[in-house]
Amino acid sequence: MGCNDFVNLNNGTVMPMLGLGTFKIKDEMVLEQTLDCAIKNGYRLIDTATVYKNEQLIGRCLPTILSKYGLERQDVFITTKLGPKDMDRERVVPAVEASLKNLNLEYIDLYLIHWPAKQGMKPEDLQHAIVRKQCWEILEDIYLNSGQLKAIGLSNYTSKHLKELLASCRVKPAVMQSELHPDYIQEDLLNVCTANSIHFQSYSSLGAGALIEDERFGKIAEKYGRSIPQVLLRWAIERGCSVIPKSVNEDHIMANSCIFDFSLSNEDMDAIQRSTANTKFCWDPNKVA
Ligand SMILES: NC(=O)c1ccc[n+]([C@@H]2O[C@H](COP(=O)([O-])OP(=O)(O)OC[C@H]3O[C@@H](n4cnc5c(N)ncnc54)[C@H](OP(=O)(O)O)[C@@H]3O)[C@@H](O)[C@H]2O)c1
Repeated sequence: MGCNDFVNLNNGTVMPMLGLGTFKIKDEMVLEQTLDCAIKNGYRLIDTATVYKNEQLIGRCLPTILSKYGLERQDVFITTKLGPKDMDRERVVPAVEASLKNLNLEYIDLYLIHWPAKQGMKPEDLQHAIVRKQCWEILEDIYLNSGQLKAIGLSNYTSKHLKELLASCRVKPAVMQSELHPDYIQEDLLNVCTANSIHFQSYSSLGAGALIEDERFGKIAEKYGRSIPQVLLRWAIERGCSVIPKSVNEDHIMANSCIFDFSLSNEDMDAIQRSTANTKFCWDPNKVA
């Protein structure tokens, strides 16, 4: 079993540095087996979202899996997200309520704005900034007054979007979840997060699967007696970022958890960073006004 590590978020919430990504896992049996395997292997964070359409399945099978391993609700950290279609001041409260109901939870550990734009509006529409501000204000109210959300944060915001929010917010985001891997190193966003005590959580750390056999990292992996995915995950951890690799494969789930018992030298960290191809594998928020 791999061990886990934790980070203290800026509001005192403790979050695991390793979690299971669940994007595209929608089959009930696969999801159940995957969650069981992850919990068995020490994962204590599950990352979902309204748009993944699996909140309900997670809510249905998690209690049984937790009790199988002698765990309780407070032993796991659940992240979910406000979908782009709910980016509207009138829809935030119902969206949070729906996620709580679907996940069968009394509180959500971390609730993120999934995307800096409202579905259906053109990316260049200047109204996005107003919508972002309004939705964050509602989330602040829920966070401050209801106990339903233990921490609130953002996903896919650029440094421009983040700075704009920081200029007016009452509650600083606790987490920024964004794409990060050696081909998309996010120097600028990571610096703004660090300067503002916002934890950076890396998604698609394996390039959504595209980097797992990339020979640029083969020699380094060999040197440490690790696999390329383990090196990629460790590289993110050593930059201070938590990771949420997605896998439905038992061996991969297990291997991805074994990243806290070795470290990469500064030279190897730099070599990985220098090899960057500046390639993005997921949706790109840079065009959103
Ligand atoms: N906020 C957002 O907008 C956003 C966007 C994208 C992702 N995310 C979150 O981040 C999570 C992870 O990102 P991702 O799903 O894009 O991709 P990822 O974790 O970078 O890569 C997943 C792919 O790598 C394979 N894989 C995983 N571990 C492996 C291993 N040890 N050896 C070989 N192959 C391995 C998986 O296949 P197998 O299943 O066969 O192992 C899968 O095809 C998502 O599931 C989601 O929770 C968030």
